[in-house]
Amino acid sequence: MKKLHHHILELLADGKFHSGEELGIATGITRSAVWKIVKQLMLLHLPIHSLKGKGYQLENGLELLHESTIRRNLLPPALKKISQIDIFDTIDSTNQYLLDKAKTSGKSGAVCLAEYQHSGRGRRGRPWYSPFASNIYFSLLWFFVRDPVELSGLSLAITIAVTRVLKHYGIKEKLAVKWPNDVLWEKQKLAGILLEMLAEPHTGTKVVIGIGLNMTMSNHKEIPIDQPWTDVKNIIGQQPRNLFVAALINELVNTLDLFETHGLLPFLSEWESLDITRNQEIALHAGEHITRGIGLGITEKGELLLTDSNNNVQRFLSGEVSLRLVTPS
Ligand code: BTN
Repeated sequence: MKKLHHHILELLADGKFHSGEELGIATGITRSAVWKIVKQLMLLHLPIHSLKGKGYQLENGLELLHESTIRRNLLPPALKKISQIDIFDTIDSTNQYLLDKAKTSGKSGAVCLAEYQHSGRGRRGRPWYSPFASNIYFSLLWFFVRDPVELSGLSLAITIAVTRVLKHYGIKEKLAVKWPNDVLWEKQKLAGILLEMLAEPHTGTKVVIGIGLNMTMSNHKEIPIDQPWTDVKNIIGQQPRNLFVAALINELVNTLDLFETHGLLPFLSEWESLDITRNQEIALHAGEHITRGIGLGITEKGELLLTDSNNNVQRFLSGEVSLRLVTPS
C-alpha cells in the first residue's frame, strides 16, 4: 500500500467523519485525489461510508498495527531476542517473507506482521484467508543449533504458547488443541500454526513460525473458509491487536527458551489437559491412507498415539486428524 493510502487510513481509523478537504490538507493532496484513494481503500472490503456534507467515515474504526506500541509492551527477554519487527499493509505471506530473509541476511528473532496477505498459506497447501486489519498474521524467524528431526515437537510447543496467551485473556473454558497444531474453541478453529524449516548443514535449522489468529473475522460478510471457525471478538469481545501481538511475542520467547533446553517435556501436561482427541474416536489421514482408532495423546517427540482396531498402538509424526462422534455402545 502506498504511503498516502496508509496516511488516509490512519486518519480514518478513529471511526469518525473526516471531510475530503480535511483529509486533503492533512495529506497535501486535492479533494478529488482523496476520493480516488478512498475508492481504492474500499476495494480492501473496508466499510468506508461517504456522506454528502460530512465526508468519509470508516465504520467502527480500526486499530492498525504499530511497531512502537508492540515494542513498548515487550518484556526484557523478548526485547533482548527480537531483532526486528517488519509490518506490512499488504504482503504475499509473512512466512514467505521471513523464509526469503532466512536465505540471505535474516537474523534470529526477526518478526513479520501484515494487515493483509494475498497468498497467506495454511498447512497442507491450503490458503489462509487474511482479510485486511481483521486478524493477526504473524511470523517469527528463529535459529536452532539442532537438526530438524530434533525439532519434531516444536510446533506443538508453539500451539501451547498460543493457548497460554488466550488463557491470559480469559479464554479458558472450551479451549482445546487438536494435533498437530490447531487451536479450537467450542470445536471451531481459532488459530492455526505453520512451521517452515530450512536445514543448514552442520550448523542447525532456521525455522519460520507462522501463526494466524482470528481476532475480528466476523466483521466480514462472505468468508471462504471450509471448516467451522470462530474469532476472539466472538468469545470475549474485540481486543487491541497490538497488545495481543506483544503478549504473543513475550510468550513465544519464553516457550522457545524452554523448548531449546527441555524439548516438549514441560508442555506435555498442558497438552494433555487441552487435547480434544484424547480417548476419542479419531481418523488419522496421512496422504491417501486413513487409520482409525482411539486417540491416546502424544509422546515427548510430539508423535500422535492411536490404538487401532487390533489394539495396536500406532505412532504418527505427521498427518491430519478428524474427530468422529463416538457412538454410544
Ligand atoms: C493452518 O493451516 O492451520 C496454519 C495457518 C497458518 C497461517 C499463518 S498467517 C501468518 C503466516 N503466514 C502464512 O502465510 N501462514 C501463516
